[in-house]
Formats: sequence, C-alpha cells, structure tokens
Amino acid sequence: MDISSFLIDNNLPFPLFFLSTFLFLLFTFKQTKSPSSKSLKNLPPGPPKLPIIGNLHQVGNKPHISSANIAREYGPLISLHLGKQLVVIASTPEAAMGVLKTQDRFLSSRFVPTAFQHKNLLPNSLIWSECNQTWRNLRTLTRTHMFSNKALEAQSALREEKIGHMMDFLHSKQGQVINIEDVVFTTLFNTLSSIIFAKDLIVLNDNYGRDDELKATLYQIIEFGGRVIDFGSFFPILERFDLHGIRKGSMKQFLKAFGYWEYIIEERRSQVSSSTWSSEEAQSFVDHLLENGFSNNQIHELVTELFVAGSNTTTRTVVWVMSELVRHKEVMSKVDDEMKKEIKSDKINPSHLSKLYYLQACIKEAMRLHPAVPLLLPHKAAETCEVMNYTIPKNTKVFVNMWAMGRDPKVWDDPLSFNPERFMGSKMDFKGQDFELLPFGSGRRICPGLPFGVKSVEFILASLIHEFKWVLPDGEEHSKLDMNSKFGIAMKREKPLKLIFEKK
Ligand code: HEM
Repeated sequence: MDISSFLIDNNLPFPLFFLSTFLFLLFTFKQTKSPSSKSLKNLPPGPPKLPIIGNLHQVGNKPHISSANIAREYGPLISLHLGKQLVVIASTPEAAMGVLKTQDRFLSSRFVPTAFQHKNLLPNSLIWSECNQTWRNLRTLTRTHMFSNKALEAQSALREEKIGHMMDFLHSKQGQVINIEDVVFTTLFNTLSSIIFAKDLIVLNDNYGRDDELKATLYQIIEFGGRVIDFGSFFPILERFDLHGIRKGSMKQFLKAFGYWEYIIEERRSQVSSSTWSSEEAQSFVDHLLENGFSNNQIHELVTELFVAGSNTTTRTVVWVMSELVRHKEVMSKVDDEMKKEIKSDKINPSHLSKLYYLQACIKEAMRLHPAVPLLLPHKAAETCEVMNYTIPKNTKVFVNMWAMGRDPKVWDDPLSFNPERFMGSKMDFKGQDFELLPFGSGRRICPGLPFGVKSVEFILASLIHEFKWVLPDGEEHSKLDMNSKFGIAMKREKPLKLIFEKK
C-alpha cells in the first residue's frame, strides 16, 4: 500500500499527517530514547521500513489481515516499526507459546491504548494495569464473586431469566427483520448488570430512548479503544497532543457511563452501610466491592471495564457463530438433529448444554475463524527477553495474531472451510492449553470472563436454534452471506446480521 492510499483508507487528512511528521522530525530524535542498538540487533525479521513512518503504511485498517500477510513472508514472529513504536507479532502456535507461556512473566504487561490513558482511571484498571498488586486483587475479586463455579452456579437462574426475556421478545417480533447483535447485546448486558448491580439497565425494545444512549456510550468506548491509527502511540512525543481526539472523546464517554453507575452505587452503598446489613445479604458484585472498601471512582472504572469487555466480545462471538450456521445449512441441520435427540422439553435448560457436542464444535470452529479479539489485547515487554531466539526489547508492544493462526494451512487442514467435524472427538479446547486455538488468550492475562462467556454463548445459541427457524430477509442467498469483518478491540461483522425468526 502506498502512503497516499494509506492516508485515504484511514480518513487521515494530509495536513494532519504532515504536521505530525514535522513535529516528529523536530522533537523525536532529540528527546525520545530509542532502545539501545544492541537490543535492536537480533529483532524478529520484518519488512524494510521507510524513514520516520517505518512500516505504518503497510498496516492499514485491518491489521490482523495485513500482519498475517507479512508473517506469511517473514515467518512466525515478525517485527514492525510503527513510527517509533516497535511491535512484535506472533502468528503461529509455537510463537504464541513463546509469548504467552515461556516468557509470560516478562511479556504480560499491558500497552495502554490512548483511549484508556486517563491518569485518574488507570490506577483502578483490571484490563490495563501492569501485573501489579491492584491487578492481582481485582482478578481475585472478579474470579471469586463473578466467575468461580459457585458464582456461575448462582447466576444460572439469572441467565435463564434474561435469555427467557430475549426469547419472548423474538416471539413477539415474528416475521419482522431483527438486527440480532442488538438483541443479544441487550440480553448479555442485562445479565451482567443483574450480576454487577442487581438490576436490568436496558430494555429490549425498538424505540430510541435513554437506554440506547447507554448502549451507544459503551459502543463508543470500545470503538475509541480499537482505533488503529493513532499518531500519539506511534510517536511518543506527539502523545500529549491527542491529535485524533481519542483521549478526549473516550473520556467524555467514560464520564457518561460513570453518570449511569453513580446513583446505583449510592443506592447499594446505603444498603451495605446500614446497621442491619450482613454479608449474606449481598445481592450484587458491587455489594462485595463496597464491603471491601472500594470508592465510587474505583467501582466506576472496574464495572465499565467489565461491561465493555464482557458484552461486546460475547455478543460478537454469538453473531459470528450464527453467521456461519446461516451460511452452512447442512451444518445447521446436524445441530438441529443433535438438539432433537438430546432435548425433549419446550425450553432449553443449563443441564442440556453439556450434551450438545456438535454445537460446541460449531462454536470452536467459528471462534477459530473469527476470534472476537483477533490480536488479543496489546501486551508489553516489561523486560528484554527472547522468543524463538529473537530479542524482544523492553517496552516492545506484543500481539498474538489469532486470526492468522486460525487460517494457517500449516496449522489446520483446509483452514478456510467451516468444518466443525474437525473438533468432534478431539480434546482440543480454548481454555489456554492448546496454542492453536486461543480466542481467550492464555497465561496470566487469559480472559477471566471465559466461563461466563462460554456458558452465555452456548445457552443463547441453543435457545435460538431450539425455538426458531432463522430466515434471511429478501430471499438473500444463504451461501452468499457477506462475512467481511471490521477490525476493533472486538471484531464485528462489517454488515450487521439481520434475520427473521420464525417459530419452529
Ligand atoms: C466470548 C467471550 C469473550 C472472549 C472471546 C474474550 C476474549 C478475551 C481476550 C482475547 C482477552 C485478552 C487476553 C490477552 O490479552 O492475552 C480478554 C481479556 C479480558 N476479558 Fe475477555 N473475552 C470474553 C468474555 C469476557 C467476559 C464475559 C468478561 C467479563 C464480564 C471479560 C473480561 C475480560 C477482562 C477483564 C480481561 C482483561 C484481563 C487482564 O488483562 O488481566 N471477557 N478477553
């Protein structure tokens, strides 16, 4: 890609580009410390770089695809110079193991995207903290009160209730065209808000209202977080100028979200601090945080992260599986057969899910082809270390390209075909031990919400398949469904999946 098409593709005004370049030339060489030439000697291979911008022009707005193409030419571990920032990307199971297992200790720090660089918020962050004591405490708290077997068991009735509302809503909308992402998002969001705050926050309806503002706020936060083009992160000297308005824009959305949480936290606080309160009465995750002495600011940040990380990834996974099932009628009819054999009641209940092996295989297969977080979240080298005999200097930004790995013919037979059979009778799972399939990551930074995410994806899909026939509107041909993706922290379909749900 040449520079002009790179700028046009990314909607970058030429003056902004040249202004940043000029500022960069003026200050960078004097003020920015480069990694020592010794540590730059044995870097993983990568394409030749241009002066100043390095390989920026080769990244484009779909970095999972462009870096997969570069890896095909340069190997499993590549270096790219995005302006001043050295980026290393692992694209094979062996390289992923090097990053997430062998050198997990050194490579599990976080590179914080501009959208989340708010000095008042970062000290309370679970996702963007280094592996420090705050991060350990927050992981322990979420594991104990949200994701342990005991907590998941306790959430079971809630999950059933929220999915029940979704099914009632879809039954009431039979024959109408539905944007399924919206409905699934609302369902997951309300499940999470019932766990976190002990209340629903969004209503399933078609009318634009206050609820839609909250949805839009959370969408915006994740959208700002996934911006690829951000000169501040390529040229640290430009960081403070926030040239693209990312920090300012995301802060506005954070503050809006905090406004929603504030009154609920105060409501819960008055319960928890009443003289008659006892721990057995805790109804929500926030009750536990308050009992542990969390301030409103600390709670604001943590719960926003949980909503943003939990609802978008899980929703988009459901939608990608649905898209593949819509496209492959023969696979859908096998899922149907399995469900008819295993489920004799009108409604799905959680005990059915463990028997649906073919549906589970379909979920793995869709996550292989469409990992919701295609590059995982950005890791950072806390110390200089070696992976596959190459040097990864301190402060390198490190990604693992799950999208590339899922489509690599050296890893998978016939990788581009949707073939759930490949997982039938196989022990391969996505829990972080099989380095070919890591949609939740692996090692210290593995997704803590994995059990919640998997249970929700299975339950929602099983319910939708059990009760409805899914029909594409306007006689659109199933096999031609557009499967293009839009890159972001959570990868979504370029075009929304719209379906008509007909009662079976
Ligand atoms: C299908 C659903 C999900 C997928 C595919 C997914 C995927 C991921 C991935 C790839 C990471 C980054 C791992 C890394 O950087 O190495 C991550 C991190 C994280 N996820 Fe999930 N996730 C899902 C659901 C959830 C849910 C439901 C929650 C919470 C409600 C959640 C909360 C988090 C948090 C807090 C982190 C940051 C952990 C850390 O940095 O220590 N995720 N997730």
